[in-house]
Amino acid sequence: MSDRSAPQIDLDQLMGELHHLATISDCPESPPAVTRVVFTETDLKAREYLRSLYEQVGLVVRVDPIGNTFARWEGQDPTAPAVGTGSHTDAIPHAGMYDGTVGVLGGLEAIRSLMRSGFQPQRSIELVMFTSEEPTRFGVGCTGSRAMSGAMTPAQLTALVDEAGADYDAVRQHAGFTGELSAAQLPADHFHAFVELHIEQGPELEASETPIGIVTAIAAPATVEFLVTGEGGHAGAVLMPRRRDALAAAAEMISSIESLALESDSADLVATVGKVDVHPGAVNSIPSRVGFSLDLRDIDGNNRDRVAEAIAESTDEIATRRGVTVERRMLNCDPPAQCDPTVVNAIARATKQLGIDSCEMISRAYHDSLFMARIAPMGMIFIPCRGGVSHRPDEFSSPEQIANGVQTLAITLAELAS
Ligand code: GLV
Ligand code: MN
Ligand code: MN
Repeated sequence: MSDRSAPQIDLDQLMGELHHLATISDCPESPPAVTRVVFTETDLKAREYLRSLYEQVGLVVRVDPIGNTFARWEGQDPTAPAVGTGSHTDAIPHAGMYDGTVGVLGGLEAIRSLMRSGFQPQRSIELVMFTSEEPTRFGVGCTGSRAMSGAMTPAQLTALVDEAGADYDAVRQHAGFTGELSAAQLPADHFHAFVELHIEQGPELEASETPIGIVTAIAAPATVEFLVTGEGGHAGAVLMPRRRDALAAAAEMISSIESLALESDSADLVATVGKVDVHPGAVNSIPSRVGFSLDLRDIDGNNRDRVAEAIAESTDEIATRRGVTVERRMLNCDPPAQCDPTVVNAIARATKQLGIDSCEMISRAYHDSLFMARIAPMGMIFIPCRGGVSHRPDEFSSPEQIANGVQTLAITLAELAS
């Protein structure tokens, strides 16, 4: 057997590690429901567990000032730009156990399988665990990879605050991550290539019974915060014609957002309001203030922007008609990213070598790779997940599906690092 044909995956070990990581969770139903929010005790415990696994196989661990963690397998040419892989281990509230983790622990198993095969990388291989891919705490996702790629400056990072009013800089320091924020940015030539393994989070691979998806582009995400202000009052005493109910206005706005998304020319456009905060939040009090979030995405960034504009007009009109005010704050509005043909082709060759089917596809979810594409030729390997379900506790990919992904990743890494 050549050092690159069919790497032997220790699936029992990998599945054991995935299940153990899932128990490090703030969700009372854990496992398998996972809640792991960045810079909490739980996040720190998960990081400790990963470090112990990295050290067991002699990877050299480096942690940057915001907690992005690099576990490095030194190549024969340590000065050559490295080949990167990895993903995230933070999890949104009440999530599943495979989102992100398959790319981190699967990346580790890919490296271990190459080590066991006697393969010697020419370039170093670095396994990255990105800080805060999920937007749960600070409203913006991928802060680790944004900082790494220069897509977000230290001042922009510091301007992010959590619900308790603590800013990103203070929270990361409290969690034990210190040093200049600017040091998180990587030199443009740090990575020779970057490849991320992830569950698809959609139904296409399962429906077509294709074991591997080769991503060609990642859709463009935007996040907008809305604040609707009306007038509060007594639920019994204020008659309907006199009301300026912030929640009734917000409800009409949310309904109009759904209609505009459905009417959009693009079948790929998706709009989600996933969070609503009502003030004062009492049964017998008219809501005076409502905040809600909008997550808006399309493969075509221009179409996404056109719909964002239509939503702004429509919510202004609703506010005026109802005598309330609406403020909008764009938290992020990112362009889509293209995968690089060198990585795409390396993944395709890996699947051929393994004799498994693959297809090219778009990633509708965003990933840290969206930002890694700014500093490295980037590619992504998708595996199916049951029913296309993700961001839910019943998220599931089978051990065999995971093994296909890890083997594909191992061969791809070996080619890119040779
Ligand atoms: C990533 O978690 C996404 O929301 O696409
Ligand atoms: Mn996710
Ligand atoms: Mn993810």
